[in-house]
Amino acid sequence: VNDEVTILVGSMSGNADLVAEAVESALSDAGVAARIRGLDEIALADFEHGPCIVCTSTYGTGEVPDNAKGIYAMLCQERPALGGLLYGVFGLGDSIYPDTFCFGGKRFDTVLSDLGAERIGARVDHDSRSRVKPDVVAREWAAAWSELLKKRLST
Ligand SMILES: Cc1cc2nc3c(=O)[nH]c(=O)nc-3n(C[C@H](O)[C@H](O)[C@H](O)COP(=O)(O)O)c2cc1C
Repeated sequence: VNDEVTILVGSMSGNADLVAEAVESALSDAGVAARIRGLDEIALADFEHGPCIVCTSTYGTGEVPDNAKGIYAMLCQERPALGGLLYGVFGLGDSIYPDTFCFGGKRFDTVLSDLGAERIGARVDHDSRSRVKPDVVAREWAAAWSELLKKRLST
């Protein structure tokens, strides 16, 4: 795969950062080049540069983390056409908030698909109450995701 994958992180207390590192390591093992960037470090135009994986937690009442707010609002307001963009979403949350569980990841999934982007693989909604740590789930998920990406890019 030539297209570098951008791993985009929305986090307040570092859990999604650990997920992003696990994803990067799994992609690297699969021979897929990737780099991690904060969701506050990108512009809308960066979504045109190739596949991305959004790793984000949830805050407030189902909001995206602070560092993701700016780009999320721009996606919703400026509504760039993202046809051709391939993406994945790993959401983090806590089922103690049943009404807004993992809404951070869901929000990105919804807006990206509304704008014409194509999700690869299933979205993960990871529960911090689960016995399996998010970075462990992320590593396995990203290994499978990278195979789906390779297939998708070869067709
Ligand atoms: C103030 C606060 C509000 C939260 N709100 C939600 C929520 O609405 N839905 C949800 O699923 N998780 C919610 N969470 C849980 C976090 O998303 C979860 O702890 C996550 O692992 C944090 O990841 P991070 O360290 O990358 O920010 C909330 C956590 C805090 C501290």
